[in-house]
Amino acid sequence: MPIPLLDLKRQYTAIQAEAEAAVCSILASGAYIMGANVKAFEEEFAAYCGVKHAISVGNGTDGLVISLKALNIGPGDEVITTPFTFFATAESISSVGARPVFVDVRPDTYNLDENLIEAAITENTRAIMPVHIFGQPAEMAKINEIAKKYGLAVIEDACQAVGARYRGERVGGLGDIGVFSFFPTKNLGGAGDGGMITTNDDRLAAICRALRVHGSGEGGRLAYNLLYATDEEELEEAAGDSTVYDPRKYYNYLIGHNSRLDEVQAAILRIKLRQLDRYNQARQTIAAFYNRQLAETTYVTPTPPENTESVYHLYVLQAENRAQVVRHLADKGIATGIYYPVPLHRQKAYRYLNYQTGDLPVAEYLCQRTFAIPCFPELTPAEQAYIVAALKEAI
Ligand SMILES: Cc1ncc(COP(=O)(O)O)c(C=O)c1O
Repeated sequence: MPIPLLDLKRQYTAIQAEAEAAVCSILASGAYIMGANVKAFEEEFAAYCGVKHAISVGNGTDGLVISLKALNIGPGDEVITTPFTFFATAESISSVGARPVFVDVRPDTYNLDENLIEAAITENTRAIMPVHIFGQPAEMAKINEIAKKYGLAVIEDACQAVGARYRGERVGGLGDIGVFSFFPTKNLGGAGDGGMITTNDDRLAAICRALRVHGSGEGGRLAYNLLYATDEEELEEAAGDSTVYDPRKYYNYLIGHNSRLDEVQAAILRIKLRQLDRYNQARQTIAAFYNRQLAETTYVTPTPPENTESVYHLYVLQAENRAQVVRHLADKGIATGIYYPVPLHRQKAYRYLNYQTGDLPVAEYLCQRTFAIPCFPELTPAEQAYIVAALKEAI
């Protein structure tokens, strides 16, 4: 039985009529970027995450870069993060000219090991960037406590975890700033790229809003004044009432980005956001089934600590003989994915940081053993049973 790791077509079929009506009405409206749907999606997403501000951006990577810039992190600064994540986490730190400092992960949650963070703090450390990997929230209370003690910012990379809960609260508002990705394969995925920054901090929100649109216009002026603690008189020509030509748009205050969300993405994401709890619950039910069925085997299954709720963006397990298991599943038509084959500190791109094999042993160990099996909301009970049977056969 052929079973893909993720089947986006099944999800689309269920929302097709609604999505096509929304997209056609956007096409007819002539308003394509950062219009009514984007504004509504930002409000709905902020309410969903329980945060004050949600600022949409072009993708999760931009969201991380913009967040770091809003915190004024740049050359000479260090940011502590995990080596067991998608490359964009550390890449964003490097993109602003700062240095990623990798700290090993916990063997149970695969998240940043909170007990190893303090030893990695130097006089250049400015922030901690935990990742809620595979949808599992990181140990935020301890991370926030350390950040407070040393005066550091906390940036949640929540790109894989929309809706995950830590001590009852949704991720995204647990640190100073949170970042999400709506890449199509994510648990809240669009029909293209998209991302969101979340924060309860008015100042950070204003700066992020300006940075996503070239630091220009009224938002850029506000951000400039906030960043440089000035309250400059507005010298520019006041905006007219023309909806087509806004002269303020061509006054730039910060070096920013073009990182806007478009209306089509926002409309589709609004539809899916309304279904997200149902999608996440379906993932949790499938994960619970796998956990039960594999409990007596030699596979190591996910173990969310008490008081956390994973949304299983991916269901990742460990096998001693991963290559053999993956091959057996492939023979049975079952797709798998290896997340992640190389820890970030051993990536070629980070050779200049001079990490060696053995420096971060848990992440290195996991990279040899972990793999993901299908765990998407529309996976049928028959498919789930077939996957479990194949996994048992493989060992
Ligand atoms: C943990 C993590 N961080 C950052 C990103 C970057 O998001 P995007 O692909 O939307 O730029 C992703 C996803 O791709 C991710 O999984």
